[in-house]
Amino acid sequence: MGEIAIARNINVDRVVPVPALLDRMRKAMTNKIILDCDPGHDDALAILLAHGCPAIELLAITTVAGNQTLDKTTRNAQAVCAAAAITGVPVAAGCDRPLLRELRTAAHVHGESGLGGVTLPEPAVPPADAHAVDLIVELVLGHPSEVTLVPIGPLTNIALALRREPRIAGQVREVVLMGGAHTRGNITPAAEFNIWVDPEAAEAVFTAGWPVTMVGLDLTHQALATPDVVKRIAALDTPAARLAEQIVRAYQDGYVSAFHLPAPPLHDPCAVARVAAPDVVDCVDAHVAIETQGRWTAGMTVTDFDCRVGPANARVATTLRREGFWGLMLDSLASASPR
Ligand code: BDR
Ligand code: CA
Repeated sequence: MGEIAIARNINVDRVVPVPALLDRMRKAMTNKIILDCDPGHDDALAILLAHGCPAIELLAITTVAGNQTLDKTTRNAQAVCAAAAITGVPVAAGCDRPLLRELRTAAHVHGESGLGGVTLPEPAVPPADAHAVDLIVELVLGHPSEVTLVPIGPLTNIALALRREPRIAGQVREVVLMGGAHTRGNITPAAEFNIWVDPEAAEAVFTAGWPVTMVGLDLTHQALATPDVVKRIAALDTPAARLAEQIVRAYQDGYVSAFHLPAPPLHDPCAVARVAAPDVVDCVDAHVAIETQGRWTAGMTVTDFDCRVGPANARVATTLRREGFWGLMLDSLASASPR
């Protein structure tokens, strides 16, 4: 009787169908991110991870000049989306050069196209009408305290978004960036590529007073795509995994000849992994200052774990839980069908 009474009181107009309810619940539990990238082989893998990972809701892909010129990085992002059947995620082009400096690219690693050695389809949809900087501001203000920015290229778009709308500093959930290092560089002995391309933008990001996590080379060099990993990716045999295998093999050729590493590090996916599964990446708080002047050290992320030169302004990634990371990567690539 009680049950019937309850059933009669249900307003059918307000009943949410179960699949829609599950979708809402899933969205409420996921991390909304904007992936700001410069594809780039490892950027392309970060796109595949962000798309395939149920803990991530990819709100937008924004592009910046870095590994290659803006027209190429934007086209590459669009082509990766076409290849992986990623639909409904806007790709917006951003800044075509650093704030103050000449653009310097990484053709020696990523080739003239930015995705050298990778065969991709033509982009299926045009880039968004909005400029990346405007889209970042709009999405952050539209989802207060919910959006994590994941910049995996030079920080030009993020610095300009801050300048255009300083309120975003208080509205972003977190910035989890791939860049910098506390022990070494890769483009120079002291500097990591993303920070070196636009140190002034990096300085703006590290001094904005918002929560920043720096996923740098010390961490990403623990994510080496060894032959065993490549075999595990190949064994998945899904469309996303086949694309990832192709990208890793092409990246390997460029990387191993340019650096003294046994296998290519998947730098950019590490930042996405930190958002999706924070336990996979251990961090230590530190003060990070950006060297914008040094004759030998421009672009260095001077990392002070003792906070002698200033209070902690970043969480610095130190240790990768390798099995957790590769598990996340493989599970995401295993989801063959578009979400
Ligand atoms: C970073 O530089 C770029 O070449 C990669 O895409 C990555 O974001 C590594 O230093
Ligand atoms: Ca990148």
